[in-house]
Amino acid sequence: MRKPIIAGNWKMNGSRSSIKELLDGIKAGVGEVKSAEVVVCAPSIYIADVAAQLEGTDIAWGGQNLSTEPKGAFTGEISADMLLDFNCKYVIVGHSERRSLYGETDEIVAEKFEVARKAGLRPILCIGETLQEREDGVTNDVCARQIMAVIERSGVQALLDGVIAYEPVWAIGTGKTATPEQAQETHAAIRKLIAEKDASVAEQVRIQYGGSMNAGNAAELLAMEDIDGGLIGGASLKAEDFLTICKAAG
Ligand code: PGA
Repeated sequence: MRKPIIAGNWKMNGSRSSIKELLDGIKAGVGEVKSAEVVVCAPSIYIADVAAQLEGTDIAWGGQNLSTEPKGAFTGEISADMLLDFNCKYVIVGHSERRSLYGETDEIVAEKFEVARKAGLRPILCIGETLQEREDGVTNDVCARQIMAVIERSGVQALLDGVIAYEPVWAIGTGKTATPEQAQETHAAIRKLIAEKDASVAEQVRIQYGGSMNAGNAAELLAMEDIDGGLIGGASLKAEDFLTICKAAG
């Protein structure tokens, strides 16, 4: 049985006061979440606040990015050890915004995955196709290429140190969600690809769906066999919506 995982990706949103309010709301309702693992990934400057507010609760927290380097002259970067210093459990790697806006290649993302897991963080590996790629019928090829970069670098077993988030780029922040069938089809293809390397890893690895998942559509997406949770952007900024999604996960 794969434990469902719902992670909020706040992106570059919030303030100290809005985050306090959001976390108060989530903490008040999280007791009603039965089995799903609940995570919030905060802007790095707020991680210390988040850690202070979530310490001792069942909610885990994480970063949205990390450097491939351990330390040194890398202005503006955050290392794995810095995230661990604030008890982060997770870190997102290879989000499509990092890939498209900040030039992160499959190789860089694979390196970040490796650096994160070796340090003891659980990487949330984001993969997914653009609209053009979907229209060209290469969705599975793109996902395979993005996952294979990690497998080639770290081995298939390494996938169990993290989580995969399938996020069709055309669904992120657009309000256009993949249908449950579309998402399931790609999740199954991802699992099949991994099964070709190691059936047991494929069975155990959790694959979240991300891309305009919200309080209204979460239940039907999460009901699909190969969808093990969600990576939630916009809807994770409202406690009530985020909790509805967490409860839908189980
Ligand atoms: P969205 O973002 O839920 O706002 O579409 C998801 C993500 O980018 O992780």
